[in-house]
Amino acid sequence: MKKNYSLNGIYHKAIVTGGAGFVGSNLVESLLEDGLEVISIDDYSAGKERNLEDLKERFGDQLTAANCDITNKKDLATYFKGVDVVFHQACSKMTICLKDPLRDLEVNAAGTFNLLELARDTSVKKFVHVSTGSVYGIAQYFPTDEKHPVNPTSYYGVSKLAGEKYVRAFAHLYDMDTSILRYYHVYGPKQDSGDYGGVMGIFCKQAIKNEDLTIFGDGTQIRSFTYVKDVVNINKLVALKGGKGEAYNCASGLKVSINDIAQKITKMAGATSKINYADWKPGDIKDFEVSHQKIEDLGFEFEYLDFDKGLQKTFDWYKKVFS
Ligand SMILES: NC(=O)c1ccc[n+]([C@@H]2O[C@H](COP(=O)([O-])OP(=O)(O)OC[C@H]3O[C@@H](n4cnc5c(N)ncnc54)[C@H](O)[C@@H]3O)[C@@H](O)[C@H]2O)c1
Repeated sequence: MKKNYSLNGIYHKAIVTGGAGFVGSNLVESLLEDGLEVISIDDYSAGKERNLEDLKERFGDQLTAANCDITNKKDLATYFKGVDVVFHQACSKMTICLKDPLRDLEVNAAGTFNLLELARDTSVKKFVHVSTGSVYGIAQYFPTDEKHPVNPTSYYGVSKLAGEKYVRAFAHLYDMDTSILRYYHVYGPKQDSGDYGGVMGIFCKQAIKNEDLTIFGDGTQIRSFTYVKDVVNINKLVALKGGKGEAYNCASGLKVSINDIAQKITKMAGATSKINYADWKPGDIKDFEVSHQKIEDLGFEFEYLDFDKGLQKTFDWYKKVFS
């Protein structure tokens, strides 16, 4: 039987930071469907208005789409009245981090700090913080579980770890109910397909336009994919049951090579695109094997384990956007 992760009746008003982004907008939709009042907070540095447009039409006043930078605490404070749960998805992403690491530190660490202070001061009941598998750095063992040492090797990983550490400190100092989610490669509709986007979006866009695809390295590198709806449901489960100060890996266990993805997508598009190979990106990780035991022990069941089906849904969405 399908599990029910509804927050209806448990929480009434949610903030989703990064609500116009990929995972954020999918989560906003699901919370609205549950009947919650939702405030999306996004500065639109990467988020897209189109990700929330249909939701504004469907849900009217139930959704507030705020244009607000999480590093601006004064502006941020105006949205916290009556909020009982925060899902902190906003981030400065890996690709941006390389260009402007200080901005990245400001958003991922100081922005998180602002949110935690406001959540504490307004007695928010639950703070779900989103982090990344990049906090582990180079995996010392497989499957990588939450006890693995955290030694990030990128600016992004360091700034995200700083955010995590603030979350733990607030749980410790103020007994705040916080939980941390470490995502890996999330895929699905609404993911950014620009230069700062994920590989799936970039390949879909190129194949739909019948442009050539570029793989960095030999394409045998593996990614650990999780469909966005599973990630949304993990957020909701953790809002209900997540342990105070606990971190949870979010990875379904699906392992797919970059070569496979490129081939499947060009086939779906019926494209004649060539697949070109370029130099490896520095620090690219060749394999992932991630433990999801802890989130399953909390009662989570991954529903979207058919990669081709998830890929088709994702492709269909890009097809609508780019045709
Ligand atoms: N997508 C993945 O595969 C993946 C993997 C690991 C971790 N994550 C984490 O998941 C979360 C969501 O990622 P996503 O893939 O949806 O990315 P995304 O870029 O689509 O969403 C992030 C959103 O944050 C917004 N944002 C950035 N800076 C902001 C600021 N200063 N104030 C307000 N909003 C701001 C962006 O405009 C964007 O809409 C992030 O915390 C990211 O670190 C994602």
